[in-house]
Amino acid sequence: MYIASVGVSKFCFLFSLAFCGLLLLLIPALQPPSHQVIRPQPRAPVRPTQTSQLHHARVPAASVNAEGSDSASWLSKSSAAQEGVIKTVVTRTDSHSLMRGTDFPLFGGKGSYSRSRTWELLAFKDIFIAVKTTRKYHKSRLELLIKTWVSQAKEQTYIFTDGEDKELQMRTGANIINTNCSAAHTRQALCCKMSVEYDKFIESQKKWFCHVDDDNYLILPRLLQLLSSYHHSQDVYLGRPSLDHPIEATERVKSDGSVSVKFWFATGGAGFCISRGLALKMSPWASLGNFISTAEKIRLPDDCTIGYIIEALLEVTLTHTHLFHSHLENLRKLPTDTVLEQVTLSYGGFENTQNVVSIVGGFSKTDDPTRFKTVHCLLYADTDWCPKHNTHSKS
Ligand SMILES: *[C@@H]1O[C@H](CO)[C@@H](O)[C@H](O)[C@H]1NC(C)=O
Repeated sequence: MYIASVGVSKFCFLFSLAFCGLLLLLIPALQPPSHQVIRPQPRAPVRPTQTSQLHHARVPAASVNAEGSDSASWLSKSSAAQEGVIKTVVTRTDSHSLMRGTDFPLFGGKGSYSRSRTWELLAFKDIFIAVKTTRKYHKSRLELLIKTWVSQAKEQTYIFTDGEDKELQMRTGANIINTNCSAAHTRQALCCKMSVEYDKFIESQKKWFCHVDDDNYLILPRLLQLLSSYHHSQDVYLGRPSLDHPIEATERVKSDGSVSVKFWFATGGAGFCISRGLALKMSPWASLGNFISTAEKIRLPDDCTIGYIIEALLEVTLTHTHLFHSHLENLRKLPTDTVLEQVTLSYGGFENTQNVVSIVGGFSKTDDPTRFKTVHCLLYADTDWCPKHNTHSKS
């Protein structure tokens, strides 16, 4: 009896100890999430630029936001960023803040709520970067990219062009792929290059496919930060919508052409990214030359065809982001203090030399008309050709 009662009270004592321990463990989990990772202020809205590039878009503007993406994300950098690896916490929110131009809504702010969290430890080597160019721009555009951001990501950046340039390849060590596609700026030639890009990505086994044009500056740390907020096995299609409404096209892949489909697409000139999980699902319409026949069926350019395969055929929505920029928008409107927070930048080129990002740094407008060298030196100050002094002085 005595022994048994000692056993019972001992058991009760141990049980209550364990219970208290469990409660203590639960306390941090029950507290609201920390606010430390958040940007202190919402950013100035960056409006999407409406372009007249697509005359076949027939949808009335009333359908704006009707089919917006369903997620937005924001990120936090961990100390691992120093080692070239970034771990981020993501919380998805209702996307309308995104459509209004704030890419990083405040954590737990008004109107946002946590839905899911994704973590991915992502490194630069996990990203396949495709740069689309043409032989005539090797000197004027490509060399600038190779000198600047490509130099920081040589291994995983592939340049897709339409002519041999052994000299450039030897001198810079860049991965230059001659697609053997036509150098004409036609839908067929552009789709031919996209098709080769897709196949090379699939072959590479990398986690993310990102496409940019030869007039884009890719801010690599920001790209890594953005992609780290998703998982490459999820269906992710990230980019800047080039219109403020979905495009409408005649459906000729799944039907006889009697119905039309509406879908969003990311403008190729601003760059876009696709997760490996989604890219693999695109295979029936994109791999081994199928991309060219899909584009021919709907008679749309390469970037629209990507949107068509993803949104119309696979029913995966484009995640709208305004961190990607093309020469079609007014780049001068981008607030100076947010330039280095973007994922891609661009410049106006020959027709519109004044359309560049406003940034102040080591090079004058004469020495750096595109502002890419200045951006590069602000990001990588120890580059040998960057000015060593007065990096922040007015030019
Ligand atoms: C382009 O043609 C060359 C020569 O025929 C060939 O070696 C190369 O693999 C081709 N490139 C592609 C991407 O098919």
